Amino acid sequence: MKTIAVCFVCLGNICRSPTAEGVMRHQLAEAKLADRVIVDSAGTGNWHIGEAPDERAQQAARERGYDLSQLRGRQMTASDFERFDLLIAMDDANVDALSKICPPMYRDKIRLLMEFAPQADTREVADPYFGGAAGFDRVLDQCEAACRGLIAALGNQLSAG
Ligand code: 4NP
Repeated sequence: MKTIAVCFVCLGNICRSPTAEGVMRHQLAEAKLADRVIVDSAGTGNWHIGEAPDERAQQAARERGYDLSQLRGRQMTASDFERFDLLIAMDDANVDALSKICPPMYRDKIRLLMEFAPQADTREVADPYFGGAAGFDRVLDQCEAACRGLIAALGNQLSAG
């Protein structure tokens, strides 16, 4: 059976991309598509390799029923461009950092998360790391909306294949 592999990417892999990963896994399970879509996340930076998600991200996620506690930070590698069908960045800086290390043939795999929530009024998921709790809730709102759109898009691809 055909599967699709997606990797969410942010700077540190401790706030936004693990949140997107947790929301995506949850929504895929609800849609009974968990075995059709491989989900991972990574950071463009190397500061938080091996760390659990930021406690504030875990707390905000827990309040909505997502458990991020088992996730661990890792840094993007060149082989990720081969392994994944989509590398879904949170902001333009992530896209730039990915583009610098991406082999040209895989450039089309790099996308912005909020492309999948065209009704939303933002195109980037802002970094909540240096802000307050509201920033983490906003990340969750954005991830929930965009993952719904992403799953709809992937569902079409899976049924077409
Ligand atoms: P993230 O947030 O990219 O959403 O994981 C950040 C986490 C850590 C840092 C920056 C952003 N940092 O500078 O350590």
